[in-house]
Formats: sequence, C-alpha cells, structure tokens
Amino acid sequence: MVLSLTVNGDRLSSPSDPITPLIDVLREDFHLTGAKPVCREGFCGACMVLVDGLPTLSCLMPAALAAGCEIRTVESLAVDGTLTPIQAALEACDAVQCGMCFPGMVVTLTHLMTTKPGATREDIRAALTGNICRCTGYERIVEAALIAAAGK
Ligand code: FES
Repeated sequence: MVLSLTVNGDRLSSPSDPITPLIDVLREDFHLTGAKPVCREGFCGACMVLVDGLPTLSCLMPAALAAGCEIRTVESLAVDGTLTPIQAALEACDAVQCGMCFPGMVVTLTHLMTTKPGATREDIRAALTGNICRCTGYERIVEAALIAAAGK
C-alpha cells in the first residue's frame, strides 16, 4: 500500500506503513527535516506541523490519519527566501538558541499570528505552553512574537 500525502502543496507518496508516525514519514521519506523528533511522547512540541491549518504533534499522529489533509511544515513558510513576519522578528531578536525546539515554535507562532492578530503577551505565552525550550530562551521568543503581532 502506498501512502499518499499532501505536504507543502505537493502530492507525495510514501512506502511507509500507514501507522508510521507522521514525523518519520516527513523526515525519512520526504526529507523534510525541519520538525524535530525530540521526546516522541507529545510533551515538547518540537515536532509541530500544521495539519489543515492546526498545530499538530506529528510524533503522535499516524501518517495515514493525515491522508486527505493539507500538511504544512516549517519549510513551507518562507517563500523564495523571504521570511514571514514572525520568522523575521525571531531572527531580528536573535531568538534562536540550540535550534531543536525552534521549528515547532515557529509553526505554533505562525498559527497564532494567523488566528489572533494583535496577540498579547498572555496570548503568546498561552500558545507556547506546548512548546518546550530546554535552553529556556522564552523571553526573546515572546518579544519577537509581540513585535510580529504588532506589525512593527
Ligand atoms: Fe513530538 Fe516532542 S517530539 S511532542
């Protein structure tokens, strides 16, 4: 059985078993390595992708459940090298540290910027509760998100 998924606008086929976690299909079959398998237990958020526009832990989702959905990974956000406003703000604020949590943070914040324009510090902190940064670099990430939310 061939698994067919729509990822970043492309229709892709995977030879993996349908119950393979989506993150493994993305990384190993499609070579989209932005999402990171860190805890693999649904706690850290490093594996976050958008499934039909919603932040989704790809380590917990069997790939077959994503068939028929629109999957977007962090690789799809910048277009022709142009960063999105939240990506640009994160870069300007030097918000990345080791980088393991960062793709998941970007995906979560991308969703927040889309669904809650003008998000407050509290909104941003609430949105990021499922994204764990072991470097504890939250403050610059929140500041960057505030800048992006304010459209500065
Ligand atoms: Fe999926 Fe940590 S790797 S939540």
